[in-house]
Amino acid sequence: NSDRATIAIAYVYRGTFIHSTEETAVEILADAVLGVDTKGKIAFMGKGKDLDELSQTFRFSSSKVTQLTQHEFFMPGMVDTHIHAPQYSYAGTALNVPLLQWLKTYAFPVESQFSDLEFAHRIYTKVVKRTLRNGTTTACYFATIHTDSSLLLGQIANDFGQRALVGKVCMDRNNCVKHYKETTEDSQEETRRFIAELLNKKYPLVKPVVTPRFALSCTGALLEELGAIAKNNNLHIQSHISENTKEVRLVKEMFPESKSYTDVYHKYNLLTDKTVMAHGCHLSDEELALFRKTGASLSHCPNSNISLCSGMLNVRNVLKHKVKLGLGTDVAGGYSASVLDAVRRAQDMSKILTLQNPEYDVLTFEEAFRLATLGGSQALSLDDQTGNFEVGKDFDALRVNVAAPGGPIDLIQYDGPKIQLEKFLNLGDDRNILEVFVAGRKVVPFTEPTAE
Ligand code: GUN
Ligand code: FE
Repeated sequence: NSDRATIAIAYVYRGTFIHSTEETAVEILADAVLGVDTKGKIAFMGKGKDLDELSQTFRFSSSKVTQLTQHEFFMPGMVDTHIHAPQYSYAGTALNVPLLQWLKTYAFPVESQFSDLEFAHRIYTKVVKRTLRNGTTTACYFATIHTDSSLLLGQIANDFGQRALVGKVCMDRNNCVKHYKETTEDSQEETRRFIAELLNKKYPLVKPVVTPRFALSCTGALLEELGAIAKNNNLHIQSHISENTKEVRLVKEMFPESKSYTDVYHKYNLLTDKTVMAHGCHLSDEELALFRKTGASLSHCPNSNISLCSGMLNVRNVLKHKVKLGLGTDVAGGYSASVLDAVRRAQDMSKILTLQNPEYDVLTFEEAFRLATLGGSQALSLDDQTGNFEVGKDFDALRVNVAAPGGPIDLIQYDGPKIQLEKFLNLGDDRNILEVFVAGRKVVPFTEPTAE
């Protein structure tokens, strides 16, 4: 078919590919080939494909074919469904107090500094580069209340080639750091400006996300307008929910007309199939059912939940309720900016739940892998574009070498791909990630001339 033979292929990899599907948490395709077209999409992918035969349909030269070594595999890029970009400036510190005190003592004072665009540029460049290097091909960011520096975060993600949802944070209530808040009108108006200006840039991989910080920092009037803005523009929504028991108690006091924390957001049309809510540690089954019904998803942030002693999400119960679920680092409540860390903490937390209740079914590493990749893309409603190696999706991928020289994994023997994946998930780090691709573009190693 001469029509189809005109499909130009940018490059081809041959070797082991590991990804998740709806049916299988870990699907391994050994000695497979994957071709990426000139738009960065997966043109073909599979086992037992003959390159000569493929070249009748797809146009590529043999010089564009790269063979992986025995110690390498490709996996989908990881999705961080919840991360605070400004808080990266103090990641690894300030983990000595519970949530509300932590916000007052650390998060709010630091975030208020991001009115300074130079400071914002410095920190946002570092967080985008660090997360990309760690294999985060998609990040769902909270910025700060400042519109211009939030736009800058979008620009930096675009420049480095990361797929990102970026939210200008909205808060018209703050009793503890009084200068770090907006008036209701400003918050609404600046949200509209943020969305319009970000969309106007036409960045291919960066989208705005409507971001009420959480119920405690927003009035009903603000939540109502944010729900309307999201609906009228068909936008993503992100916030926090049911992270800590004191927070849950205060929300009930502040919104006495609502049946539950979930009901507060639901009432203001903030629970949609493009909503991702962080934490949800203390949600009832009834609330999970409302998530399921509305199509809203949860971001599981185990490092943060442990670090701030917030609570433990019963992942098994969330999955049982068929609520979409991804992993989040929640930097800096979580101290690590690596989704690999979230993979490990998620398993640890589920093992602690088993210690408490032997009936509890531990989360397997295969399931944690799926949450970090396909699950995250589903939680962000981006699974039509990313999350696994289905033909037609964008090529968002990590080239992993488990035996990278100088890396954290010692090569004992050849283990086969499944054990290589398990070792990488539990022991690996950025030294094992040779290359990172987003929408077909190689984004790691960095190509920026000013790479720090
Ligand atoms: N709830 C409201 N704001 C925040 C925040 O910045 N971090 C965390 N972990 N929880 C929050
Ligand atoms: Fe958070």
